[in-house]
Amino acid sequence: MTSVKILGAGSIGNHLAHGSRQQGWQVTLCDIDPDALDRTRDDIYPGRYGAWDESIRLCRPTDTEGERFDLVIIGTPPDSHIPLALAEIEQSRPKVMLIEKPLCPPDLQPCEALIELAASRNVRVLVGYNHRLTRHTEIARQWIAERLIGEPTTLRAMTREHWGGIFGAHPWLNGPADTYLGFTSRGGGALGEHSHAINIWQYVAELAGLGRIVEVSCLLDEVEADGAAYDRIAQLSVRTESGLLGTIVQDVVTRPAQKWLRLEGSDGYLEWQVSCDPDHDLVRLVRHDGEVREERVAKTRPDDFRGEIEHLGHVLADPAMTSPLDLSAGLDTMKVIVAALESAREGRLVRIQG
Ligand SMILES: NC(=O)c1ccc[n+]([C@@H]2O[C@H](COP(=O)([O-])OP(=O)(O)OC[C@H]3O[C@@H](n4cnc5c(N)ncnc54)[C@H](O)[C@@H]3O)[C@@H](O)[C@H]2O)c1
Repeated sequence: MTSVKILGAGSIGNHLAHGSRQQGWQVTLCDIDPDALDRTRDDIYPGRYGAWDESIRLCRPTDTEGERFDLVIIGTPPDSHIPLALAEIEQSRPKVMLIEKPLCPPDLQPCEALIELAASRNVRVLVGYNHRLTRHTEIARQWIAERLIGEPTTLRAMTREHWGGIFGAHPWLNGPADTYLGFTSRGGGALGEHSHAINIWQYVAELAGLGRIVEVSCLLDEVEADGAAYDRIAQLSVRTESGLLGTIVQDVVTRPAQKWLRLEGSDGYLEWQVSCDPDHDLVRLVRHDGEVREERVAKTRPDDFRGEIEHLGHVLADPAMTSPLDLSAGLDTMKVIVAALESAREGRLVRIQG
C-alpha cells in the first residue's frame, strides 16, 4: 500500500490527509505542535469530513525517524519548506515529494541545493499549485489546444481574496503577525499566499504557446501594522518571451473573492473562474462569430485537491512522467515573485534571466 508522510497538521495537511485516504493510502500526519495534532483529531478533520479517520497515524516528526515513505508532503509554512524538503529527501527517501505553494520565501538561493539533492537521490519533487489539476482547468486545457480564439492578444489573472477566510479557518491565530501570512519575507502577504494567480497565468501561457515570463513591472501596497509587514495588494504587468503582455493581480483585501483568468484572442476569449458560486468552478469560451461554450463544474472543497491527489498517484506509478506541478514550474512562479518585489522596491522593470 502507498505510504504517505504529511508534515504539518494544519489546514492543508488535513485536506491532503483526507485526499490521500480517499485513495486508500496509509497516512502518517506529523506536527511539531501537539495542539495541532489534537485539533486535527478533535476539530478540523471531523468538522470538515464528518468523522475522524482512526487509520491516520498522528505523531511528532521525531517519531518517524528511520522510516521510509513512498510520498512525502510538506504542508508547513513556506519558510520551512526547503529545509524540511532537504531533510526528508535524506531521511524518508520518497519516490515523490509534494511541497506546498509557495515553494519558499522570496529568496531563490536555497532552491539550488534542493534541485541538486532531488536529482542525486532520484526524488521527483512537485509543487502544490492544485488549481492546475482541477476539472475546469482540464477542460480549459482541451479548449486551448483546439485554438478556437485565434491569435492570443493578452492574458489576465487575479487571485483577490480577503484573508478573513483563512483566519476563520485558523481561529487559534490572533492575526497576521501570528503566522507567516503577515510577512512577505516569510512567503506570506498577497505575493506569496495568493501566488495561484501568477502560477495559473504561467500555466495558461504555456498551454497557449506564449512562453515564459521574462519581464516584470510591479506596484505593491505594503503595510506594516501590529507587528506584521506584508504586501496586501500586488499588481504586476508582465511580458513573455513571445512578446505577449498581460496583467496579474493578487490581494488579501477583496471580498467576496475573485479567482479569475481570461485569455483574449483575435477571434474570441476564454474565461476561467474558481468558485463562480460556492459550489461551482466555471470555464467559458466565446467566439466573436457567436459560438459559446460554457461548463459549470460542480465541486466541493475536497474536489479542489482531488485532481492533485490523483495526479500524485500517477506520478508515483511513473515518476518520470511530465507533470504540470513540476518543481521547475513552482520555481518559475518564485522567480516572478522575486522579480515583482525587486521591481516594486526599486521602482523599475525587472528582467528574469534563464
Ligand atoms: N494549495 C492550497 O490551496 C493551499 C491551501 C492552504 C494552505 N496552503 C499552503 O500550505 C502551507 C501551510 O499552510 P496552512 O494553512 O496549512 O498552515 P497552518 O498554520 O494551518 O499549518 C501549518 C502546520 O505546520 C506545522 N509545522 C511547522 N513547522 C513544522 C515542522 N518542522 N514539522 C512539522 N510540522 C510543522 C505547524 O505547527 C502547523 O500546525 C502554506 O505554504 C500554504 O500556502 C496551500
